Amino acid sequence: MPTILAIESSCDDTSAAVCREGAILSNLIATQKIHEQYGGVVPELASRAHMQNIVPVVDEALKKANVTLEELDAIAFTQAPGLIGSLLVGAQFAKSLALALDKPLITVHHMQAHVLANLIAEDKPAFPFLCLTVSGGHTQIVLCESPYEMKVIGETMDDAAGEAFDKSAKLLGLPYPGGPLIDKYAKEGNPNRFKFPEPKIDGLNFSFSGLKTSILYFLQKEQLNNPAFIEENLADICASIQQRIVSILLNKLKKASEQTGIKYVCIAGGVSANSGLRDGLKEMGNKLGWKTFIPAFEYCTDNAAMIAIAAYYKYLKGDFAALSATPTARAEW
Ligand code: KG4
Ligand code: ZN
Repeated sequence: MPTILAIESSCDDTSAAVCREGAILSNLIATQKIHEQYGGVVPELASRAHMQNIVPVVDEALKKANVTLEELDAIAFTQAPGLIGSLLVGAQFAKSLALALDKPLITVHHMQAHVLANLIAEDKPAFPFLCLTVSGGHTQIVLCESPYEMKVIGETMDDAAGEAFDKSAKLLGLPYPGGPLIDKYAKEGNPNRFKFPEPKIDGLNFSFSGLKTSILYFLQKEQLNNPAFIEENLADICASIQQRIVSILLNKLKKASEQTGIKYVCIAGGVSANSGLRDGLKEMGNKLGWKTFIPAFEYCTDNAAMIAIAAYYKYLKGDFAALSATPTARAEW
């Protein structure tokens, strides 16, 4: 019955979680507010905030789980990918703790953990399943054969889906991160009012940079005629942008399901909070006979519970890391 402490610090959230036998006992997340004023994550400030947050967050996660340090069977941390300065804080903390407690150390790939977050709930997808992982830094379709065998079968050639939301929001004068705001305004708007182009990219890969440019030119043109264009049409613009981003994502997911014959389909990552994507996935799933899965919201955005579940499967295989393990900004699958 392994009890594992997991630490996630790859970007701007400091998180610690405890899991026992694959069940999450606690999942604490300290979100860094400092970046809001800069319109994006400032790496140096993120590292500094991780340093301040990590001890209280781990402490609280253990307390909430009612687990002592001595009861832990392993310490896990996110090794890659991410901001190197941020990753170093979590890695160094996890390694020090493993050394001090003389417990095994487990390294976890952040993107694989996003996929495995789908295994936290009681109602889990069967293998093999497809997972569309959509966050501020990534957009991937992953074919998951087992907790140990995953393959990226499609990914973005430029911006991530979250970036497409955030950069579009910025063009509309909305604060960072703008994704949730586009979602909010889109609820009141007409998604068919403005037509943005769907990129023609071969295979299962994505591209979002052309969309951003077409939104920029569209807004510039409309504002020449009417300087208050954005204000007067915000809901319809947001609904139209959201509908296009969602249709780009879902059309590739449909193609992936057709090519592989897999009908267990999951989404993960921060953008899976988007109501248009959630509704669209369900609708497409009903039509095509898929069984669809979306992790609980706290397991969609960056969190240590997904690191803990990935570490649990590695523990079962005895896949431990040496104390010399170092984080890397990029990582192979
Ligand atoms: O996974 P995540 O929390 O962090 C990483 O990037 O790793 O994802 C954050 C991204 C941001 O781009 C944010 O704008 C987007 O997820 N996001 C949303 C929504 N909630 C978060 N985008 C659209 N609609 C939402 N409701
Ligand atoms: Zn992430």
